[in-house]
Amino acid sequence: MEINIRTFSEFDTADVVSLWQACDLTRPWNNPHKDILRKTTLKDNLFLVATIDGELVGTVMGGYEGHRGWINYLAVSPVHRKRGLGRALMKSIEHRLLALDCPKINLQIRESNAPVIAFYEAIGFLDDKAKSYGKRLIPDN
Ligand SMILES: CC(C)(COP(=O)(O)OP(=O)(O)OC[C@H]1O[C@@H](n2cnc3c(N)ncnc32)[C@H](O)[C@@H]1OP(=O)(O)O)[C@@H](O)C(=O)NCCC(=O)NCCS
Repeated sequence: MEINIRTFSEFDTADVVSLWQACDLTRPWNNPHKDILRKTTLKDNLFLVATIDGELVGTVMGGYEGHRGWINYLAVSPVHRKRGLGRALMKSIEHRLLALDCPKINLQIRESNAPVIAFYEAIGFLDDKAKSYGKRLIPDN
């Protein structure tokens, strides 16, 4: 069994969208194809995928804006969970963010996604006790 974590390639698009759907990460107000296109246009090499024997089983989309690193679209295929893949994906993106001198990572968890809090706490994240606000500039759907 060969596990590989690498930068996303455009040929991964269909598999990534299927994975996000299987992981319940897609929402009517987010168009996954547009999200992928915007990310790849930045060419920051912070969008990673995990494969097992060539099959795409995980993703993480990192970002860095000069002050904080950000994590989006962390996903591991339901049948491959609880085997360390999520931790490995986060380690890889932390490595890349650190190489950019990023001092801290922030992330948002949907209030409806309580189980994932245990995962982030297990890998060293702490609750910042901050409230998250957003303002949409482009309606995608
Ligand atoms: C969150 C997610 C990526 C974790 O992936 P994973 O491969 O199962 O995680 P790991 O096996 O690397 O787990 C790392 C640690 O977190 C813990 N953990 C993982 N999922 C957990 C859960 N649902 N409840 C409690 N602890 C959990 C593991 O026990 C492990 O701790 P340990 O190493 O001390 O035993 C995966 O559950 C997922 O894709 N969820 C759906 C998508 C999602 O909600 N993404 C996050 C958006 S903010």
